[in-house]
Amino acid sequence: MSRAPVPSGAPDCSVGPLRPEHAGEALTVQYAAYLSEGRRYRTTEIPPLVETVEELAADLRRPDVVGFAAWLGPRLVGSARLRGVGGPDPVAFVRYSVAPDVQGRGIGSALIDAAHEVLPTGTTSWLVTGVDSAENLALYRRRGYAERGREVDAAGVAVVRMERLAP
Ligand SMILES: CC(C)(COP(=O)(O)OP(=O)(O)OC[C@H]1O[C@@H](n2cnc3c(N)ncnc32)[C@H](O)[C@@H]1OP(=O)(O)O)[C@@H](O)C(=O)NCCC(=O)NCCS
Repeated sequence: MSRAPVPSGAPDCSVGPLRPEHAGEALTVQYAAYLSEGRRYRTTEIPPLVETVEELAADLRRPDVVGFAAWLGPRLVGSARLRGVGGPDPVAFVRYSVAPDVQGRGIGSALIDAAHEVLPTGTTSWLVTGVDSAENLALYRRRGYAERGREVDAAGVAVVRMERLAP
């Protein structure tokens, strides 16, 4: 996958593959982005905040994982991953994050669009987000996700499972 220009919202941003060598930068952005979720749920133990750089790099070496990075020039400003690509089960959309200082300018939209583009028609993708994260729930609903149930994550936070069928 080559870096492609992002058509709207963030004209100076490009989205391309997230590779193991980007793990350090991606994790730094992920921690900064998810700190607001950690504060919201009063825990720093949510999965995106306890992942290590070794785990992130190892994730990106898995054959079923496809990572996406958003760049502003040389700066990695966001990332997201799909897990379970090419397998029989629904594909997970995880670790969706954009650096706090550049949120709200279309970079997250470019990342989610890039991830959805690689999913063949009829593929189900799923994600979880906190039950109190109203803006995330609204964002995912606008992107075609529907609530499919509730569970509790490894940090004890109640989360909503959402699913989308690729058109
Ligand atoms: C979720 C996140 C990745 C979105 O990235 P972003 O670059 O801010 O996203 P965009 O600028 O493309 O905006 C995406 C949508 O959210 C809306 N939005 C952006 N900032 C918003 C805000 N502060 N309040 C409400 N809506 C907002 C935009 O209008 C846009 O709506 P659209 O889908 O109708 O186009 C980013 O906010 C983030 O990293 N949050 C912290 C980590 C997190 O919560 N991740 C998801 C957990 S499941």
